[in-house]
Amino acid sequence: MIYARIAGTGSFLPGEPVTNDDLVARGIETSDQWIVDRTGIRTRYLAPPEMASSDLAREASVRAIEAAGLAPDDIDLIIVATSTPDCIFPSTAALLQSKLGIRNGAAAFDVQAVCSGFVYGLTIAEKFIRSGSHKRALVVGAEVFSRILDWSDRGTCVLFGDGAGAVVLEASDTPGVLAGALHADGSHHPILCVPGNVAAGQVVGDPFLRMDGQAVFKFAVKVLGDVALEVLGQAGLGADAVDWLIPHQANVRIIQATAKRIGVPMEKVITTVDRHGNTSAASIPLALDLAVRDGRIRPGQRLVVEGVGGGFTWGAVLLQF
Ligand code: UT7
Repeated sequence: MIYARIAGTGSFLPGEPVTNDDLVARGIETSDQWIVDRTGIRTRYLAPPEMASSDLAREASVRAIEAAGLAPDDIDLIIVATSTPDCIFPSTAALLQSKLGIRNGAAAFDVQAVCSGFVYGLTIAEKFIRSGSHKRALVVGAEVFSRILDWSDRGTCVLFGDGAGAVVLEASDTPGVLAGALHADGSHHPILCVPGNVAAGQVVGDPFLRMDGQAVFKFAVKVLGDVALEVLGQAGLGADAVDWLIPHQANVRIIQATAKRIGVPMEKVITTVDRHGNTSAASIPLALDLAVRDGRIRPGQRLVVEGVGGGFTWGAVLLQF
């Protein structure tokens, strides 16, 4: 039997942290207290103009490949989850392959599932590995959401940040990914979207992120609870079997409500949204890598990683680290 295990993790945040007070100083009508009380966010990172998602992805990937004890050319599958690709095409994954100097013909493609993108990518990679067709997948979440924010909309611009996280998923004879579930319901598309597009050389429609915050909040808490219980149920395990819950990092109140619904105490929840804001597809691998590197997550522990995002999409993976 071929299983898939995480062999290494990496992450990258660009530049210096931007505080809530820095946003006030830039003229945004908000306050540190409002942002912290409603979201738990204290800082976020904003990529400089010359840095694209593939650049952030490269830094995170180099660290993940090193942590796995591998060389770039050992990777035979590259999946990048992003909603802020470098360009319409080629894929950010193909550009990442080039920036990593991988010349072995590794398959490379992007996944578009917004904030659930990393969970979608991990699930897809696991299926490639279990089929025997691929041995070592690089799964990355990389975003420059600062580029699609309307900085005059205080209801959204204070929430998001830029960053990347990556894992190497490797074929193994012992189980790593234990269960997984992916879902979508496109009927909810208007509550979180960037509706614009590019046609005939023009931006057509609204190119900024738009969100009904309260509707997203309620939906997120419901599906994050449901899908975590679904993957635990697949494995025949209860909430007490979870060593660490790593939910999408959008809002600490969503994280707290989700943990309560699943029955996991907050001491077992990795929370990094205070440091980097909502980095969409990057948020879960960022949180995972920070907790691996600070020694909280250790080999053999059981993790639930779960995301929810525009579409709407949602999913979870139960894994043994
Ligand atoms: O990856 C998934 C992405 N999105 C999310 O996870 C977001 C989910 N939603 C949320 O996190 C919350 O709904 C928000 C943090 C976005 C907003 O919190 P809320 O408690 O739902 O606030 P609200 O939208 O109901 O706004 C309350 C008040 C309003 O003022 P009035 O009408 O009561 O006078 C807003 O105008 O807060 C005001 N407000 C702000 N005030 C200061 C909205 N944004 C800000 C701001 N600073 N940045």
